[in-house]
Amino acid sequence: MNDKELIRLAIEARERAYVPYSKFKVGAAVLTEEGLVFTGCNIESSSYTPTICAERTALSKAISEGHRNIDTIAVVGSLEKISFPCGVCRQFIREFGEDIRIISATSEDDYKVYTIKDLLPESFGPEDLRHGNI
Ligand code: THU
Repeated sequence: MNDKELIRLAIEARERAYVPYSKFKVGAAVLTEEGLVFTGCNIESSSYTPTICAERTALSKAISEGHRNIDTIAVVGSLEKISFPCGVCRQFIREFGEDIRIISATSEDDYKVYTIKDLLPESFGPEDLRHGNI
């Protein structure tokens, strides 16, 4: 599974977005270190707050199926310009490692690659809860 193939799967997942309010479809595809792929789309709610982003849908599928070793997450929005994961998704992704690769794309030929550490520097994570004895 290479970056372009992962982007292609995120684009396919984007078609399944449930977005009656924003009309802004997002798709994501998570690649685990074992080579498994979990896809997701954004799912909106009429009471707005329960809305879940595509990245968290895909990552929740991986984690809930027992796959926590995350290598890469590809995300595609709906604009001609590249969209990056929102702040909530950055924190959610960071939980599972600072070196996770993030591919933000508009197509298989137009994308940028960062790590979650690039997108969320000086972050708070699981290690920060393990030595609190004040
Ligand atoms: N959205 C995502 O799916 N991922 C992001 O990183 C940013 C925002 C969704 C949430 C909502 O359904 C729509 O895009 C507009 O914010």
